Amino acid sequence: MSAHLQRPLSIRDVQAYKERGERFAMLTAYDHPTAEILDEAGVPILLVGDSVGDNVLGYDSTVPVTMADMLHHTRAVRRGARRAVVVADLPFMSYQVSVEDGVRNAGRLVKEGGATAVKLEGAARVVDLVARLVAIGIPVMGHLGLTPQSVLQMGHRVQGRDEAGAEAIVAAAAALAAAGAFAIVLEAVPADLARRVTQAVPIPTIGIGAGPGTDAQVMVIHDLLGVSSGRLPRFVKAYADLRSTITDAVKAYQAEVASGDYPAAEHTYT
Ligand code: KIV
Repeated sequence: MSAHLQRPLSIRDVQAYKERGERFAMLTAYDHPTAEILDEAGVPILLVGDSVGDNVLGYDSTVPVTMADMLHHTRAVRRGARRAVVVADLPFMSYQVSVEDGVRNAGRLVKEGGATAVKLEGAARVVDLVARLVAIGIPVMGHLGLTPQSVLQMGHRVQGRDEAGAEAIVAAAAALAAAGAFAIVLEAVPADLARRVTQAVPIPTIGIGAGPGTDAQVMVIHDLLGVSSGRLPRFVKAYADLRSTITDAVKAYQAEVASGDYPAAEHTYT
């Protein structure tokens, strides 16, 4: 049976990947057609990342992304994903002021956006919120290491390179798992630290710039498809060159319009 005809996946299916020792891929999706294609390709988790800010909306970071942006894109992805778990990012300042804010905004992403789960960034400061959301019935994915919402403070540096930093990340992962998170993204950390965290926690770790030792990997879909421009991080691998494909198609269209070859008889109503 093709993947898109199977039953919808749940967070229990995500946890089962780790129990079976089966690696899996998560991808970002921000719109309906992309969600449909990734879902039909069998991707088990679609992340409506706040990276919509720098990949779709033209911002230079995730900091300006709002709840309205996240709700808009989460609804589009949900409508395209029949089987995949849809995880929506809580954007910057939607959960940093108070636990109540976080609960209200996570509830909106699930209830109004149709997300299966929410993702939030950070360590000790989010543990109470994670426990509260899980108690309410909202599944939570954590995000440790380089946390892009803190770019103004942290920059784009690899995290956990010294022993104190590494210890802090291992402890934070354990605390998130104990609070009930069902998975943790590890971004831009050394491979041996990612492996250590993966062995230390019972829930799946999903790496991006964290080497091969995590339970799963995530990539921004625009990077994977070769749509992104400019200098990309070392961990990006483009599996296609859609930027060239789109440019070639658009140039061919323009040329045929200019020459009069398009529209031809078969594109014309009589
Ligand atoms: O927003 C996002 O795309 C993310 C991934 C980088 C994990 O958080």
